[in-house]
Amino acid sequence: MQSKEFFLSKLEESHDFGGGMISILDLGSGQSRSALPLLGRYPQTRYVGIEPSETAAAAARTLLAPFPNARVYTQLAYEPLPDEAPFDIVLSLSVLEHVKQLDRFLANSIAMTKSGGRIIHRYDLGHSLHPSSIKERFQVFLGNHFPKLLPEHKFVRYVDPDEVVRLLEKSGAHVDGITYHQMPDHKRFLKDFVPTSDEVETLVTRLSEWEFDISPHLSGMQKAKRELLFPAISVWATKR
Ligand SMILES: C[S@@+](CC[C@H](N)C(=O)[O-])C[C@H]1O[C@@H](n2cnc3c(N)ncnc32)[C@H](O)[C@@H]1O
Repeated sequence: MQSKEFFLSKLEESHDFGGGMISILDLGSGQSRSALPLLGRYPQTRYVGIEPSETAAAAARTLLAPFPNARVYTQLAYEPLPDEAPFDIVLSLSVLEHVKQLDRFLANSIAMTKSGGRIIHRYDLGHSLHPSSIKERFQVFLGNHFPKLLPEHKFVRYVDPDEVVRLLEKSGAHVDGITYHQMPDHKRFLKDFVPTSDEVETLVTRLSEWEFDISPHLSGMQKAKRELLFPAISVWATKR
């Protein structure tokens, strides 16, 4: 199971998907691929994606066609959706590092959540820590220092978890905790290794589970060291 699929399966521990009443808003949903296994298990779930790329949104609509309560809006996720009631869970996966107006995006994630509902933002520092090309290095530099120069669809930058926590708390959420993911060797292993039995699959899953288990003990670690070891960060919050 890929890391983000496992990540979404953790929601089953806190929410009863069996009754078909749980609703999820996925901000910057791309092709919605990580949500498919969860929707496959609970096809009645109300799933709404917001995705500004026409191409990705169209691909998502095709993939989501079997699910009666799934739909995708093609737009940036800065404004509440007037036709949608608030959600039990509002999340984003690998999006915050691409969001030009972080304050508005996070405030909207809270505005679209039911009172007492869950807000989860999981994002990646890979682009800023290990740019894959000179062009990407330059884009990250602009995103960090001259954000106005980059258009929305090319935007990328380093995101400090302290900033995410501060903005979420400012807009009416209580931050419950932070988890750290995607140790580079774990990520490579999960990508390349093909489990041959259920027993081996369980062993593989323990890697992702372990990242959750160790997370509460990582807060005292020096931030730069922790980010190199765990370049994906998830901030978990509850709407007050
Ligand atoms: C790396 S992709 C991740 C897609 C998907 N969440 C996933 O995990 O596969 C980042 C997505 O964020 C979207 N995005 C960037 N800025 C956004 C914004 N302000 N509002 C909504 N989506 C945005 C992009 O169009 C892109 O599809």
